[in-house]
Amino acid sequence: MKILLTGGAGYIGSHVAAALVSAGHEVVCFDNLSNSDAAVMDRLEAITGTVIPLVQGDIRDGDALRAALNDHAAGAVIHFAGLKAVGESVAEPMKYYDNNVRGTLTLLEAMRDCGVKTLVFSSSATVYGEPRYLPLDEEHPTSATNPYGRTKLMIEEMLADVAAADGDWRIATLRYFNPVGAHDSGLIGENPNGVPNNLMPFISRVAAGRLNELSVFGNDYDTPDGTGVRDYIHVVDLADGHVAALEAITKNDQPLSTWNLGTGQGYSVLDMVEAFERVNGVRVPYRIAPRRDGDVASCFASPERAARELGWTAERGLDTMCASSWRFERMLATRNAD
Ligand code: NAD
Ligand code: UD1
Repeated sequence: MKILLTGGAGYIGSHVAAALVSAGHEVVCFDNLSNSDAAVMDRLEAITGTVIPLVQGDIRDGDALRAALNDHAAGAVIHFAGLKAVGESVAEPMKYYDNNVRGTLTLLEAMRDCGVKTLVFSSSATVYGEPRYLPLDEEHPTSATNPYGRTKLMIEEMLADVAAADGDWRIATLRYFNPVGAHDSGLIGENPNGVPNNLMPFISRVAAGRLNELSVFGNDYDTPDGTGVRDYIHVVDLADGHVAALEAITKNDQPLSTWNLGTGQGYSVLDMVEAFERVNGVRVPYRIAPRRDGDVASCFASPERAARELGWTAERGLDTMCASSWRFERMLATRNAD
């Protein structure tokens, strides 16, 4: 079965493409390259030994989607395409509703028209809002604190309605915790435009001397060292979770399934700095800064449902996450020097 990956040239999509090919699946990427580079496809070819086609198109273009689904005889879709910067979503909410919500509706219509009803969707732990208890299981109430989070919630609700109306659909909603790290090859990884919003790419750039110091957003949270605690998951483990989820929904008889993809282990900001310095033999200067609006003290998953129902658990630890992020950062430096 060929699988169409919307947003397949992006950070998570490219790792999932590699994992799917190594699990024996055929893949086609559909991406408008608004936050990625077509050169990723050459790197994927180097990793997988396979040419993965890229269709350059926008998920808000139903005709382009229908053509891609038909031309490539796709039997399933994994839907990564979306905008994901929380701050930008507050400043430009319409851009987020248009791209993420309208884009997903257009994708669902195109899939229905082409008779493709197997879908894996990239959701986020952001849909749990402020945690009422920890670890977060899939039954935890959902809410959103910003437009980005609201687009994920709206899409989840849309998917539930579609699955309830037509039992032929097989939909998996995957709620990612904090994906970090890069492929073992160092060829693909996370390379955000501008100053990174997220912790791990910021740490890498400070270590590389591309940024002066890390601002640690608050050290007065109710956590062991006062800094925010998160569930960091290696992107290669996350990718394997997609393969397991796709294979599960094609076999089971439930139209809609929801799984957390996390490790169940929380690390603080200072844990991350310490591990990155120790594993890579580098320095990451930091200073304590005020709390960032919208941040919670702690957020980590119960990964039990995915373990029980998918037979999937994250295997890579913090040291591997830090080493692979640094390997990718070094690779970028080499590329930029060429
Ligand atoms: P990314 O920006 O690297 O990848 C998204 C890809 O989608 C990019 O290649 C971009 O060019 C493409 N894209 C965006 N809008 C598009 C459109 N209208 N049409 C076609 N292509 C479009 O982001 P990522 O980190 O790989 O995230 C993938 C998905 O996972 C997103 O939906 C994101 O919200 C979700 N997610 C990410 C994280 C994270 O920490 N990275 C956490 C939770 C959820
Ligand atoms: C953020 C988003 C979330 C999104 C996720 C993945 C917010 C409020 N939440 O989650 O919706 O799904 O990214 O893209 O933006 N930190 C620092 N200094 C930094 C950067 C981060 O101290 O320069 C701290 C944060 O306060 C937090 C931790 O590091 O405690 C992780 O932050 P980050 O990587 O941005 O992820 P989240 O905030 O968990």
